[in-house]
Amino acid sequence: MSEELTSEVIADLLATAINAVAATSSLAELDHEASQVRAKDSALMLARRSLGTLSDIDARKAAGALLNEAMSVFGEAVDARRAALEISERASQLEADRLDLTEVVVGDLRVPVGRGHAHLVTQTRASLEAVFVAMGFTVTEGPEVETDWYNFEALNLPPGHPARDMYDTMYLDIGEPETVLLRTHTSPMQIHLLEQAVAEGTLPVHAAMAGRCYRLDTPDARHLPVFHQIEGLVIDRNITFADLAGVIETFTAAYFGPDIHARLRPAYFPFTEPSAEFEITCTICRGVGCRTCSRTGWIELGGCGMVDPAVFAAVGIDPVEWSGFAFGFGIDRCAQMRHQIADMRSLIENDLRFMRQF
Ligand code: PHE
Repeated sequence: MSEELTSEVIADLLATAINAVAATSSLAELDHEASQVRAKDSALMLARRSLGTLSDIDARKAAGALLNEAMSVFGEAVDARRAALEISERASQLEADRLDLTEVVVGDLRVPVGRGHAHLVTQTRASLEAVFVAMGFTVTEGPEVETDWYNFEALNLPPGHPARDMYDTMYLDIGEPETVLLRTHTSPMQIHLLEQAVAEGTLPVHAAMAGRCYRLDTPDARHLPVFHQIEGLVIDRNITFADLAGVIETFTAAYFGPDIHARLRPAYFPFTEPSAEFEITCTICRGVGCRTCSRTGWIELGGCGMVDPAVFAAVGIDPVEWSGFAFGFGIDRCAQMRHQIADMRSLIENDLRFMRQF
């Protein structure tokens, strides 16, 4: 062997070792190959051991230097391969951990996927808000979770008041029993708005506020336990009941069209005086009488009236200088009447054959 330890032989041994390292495809394989090359009985190590048998000192030195050089080049090749393998193993680890959040569309991809649209109630709320904006109201909204103070007490409904029976209330298990609730109407927004106007000195107020309300009702053709109201509040100087009646009439014609009539009937709400119920012609039967209107020909949309002095007192407004009116009515009920939906439960059943009509 000694005679064969030429520079070509060493270069060949190195090339073989480097090729083996370059061909590895994992860190484990690389470690295995590197230790093979460095093992006592590897071709390179046998060559190093055979140095002692070289009789020519210069030749032995030259071959020794070449072998050392070869081992260090081999070491660099191992390090380079290790760096490359670490990068690719990390990349495939990340790829394996990746969450595929793309949606698989089953079926014929040439048929465009439907985009959906706003729910009828959402569309109705937007049109109602637009009508009130056109009449000069500002539009705001407020919390669905209220305290007893905002939903009842500040509205002149102290604890034990019989009119609380009109509102089958869902209470939340927060704080003292029956102190925090899901609002039963949007009227607590009257209190929020007036408190803010007093604090900021921004009276008069002309506002409409829409949102979700809750009552412990069994769903039927005209009632949903989760429903929507839009509240109106006008507080200014010299406001009279005639202004209220005019706003209701203007709104009814603007939203339902000229052949639907509104009527106000005396009613009672603790937070308005005088108070009225606001009804419109039943659009299902056009006033003849049907299941939806309980055969009366009229559908109640909501309540209204002149803001009661007790409400002014609760928020600290001078009832001599200021007067105003409030109204509140069902958005779902408006959608039902405008589109002649016999049963309001259709609004929450999510039957696409129904939803797609609007
Ligand atoms: N909040 C009342 C209800 O839901 C309706 C109403 C609003 C009455 C404003 C008068 C004034 O029953």
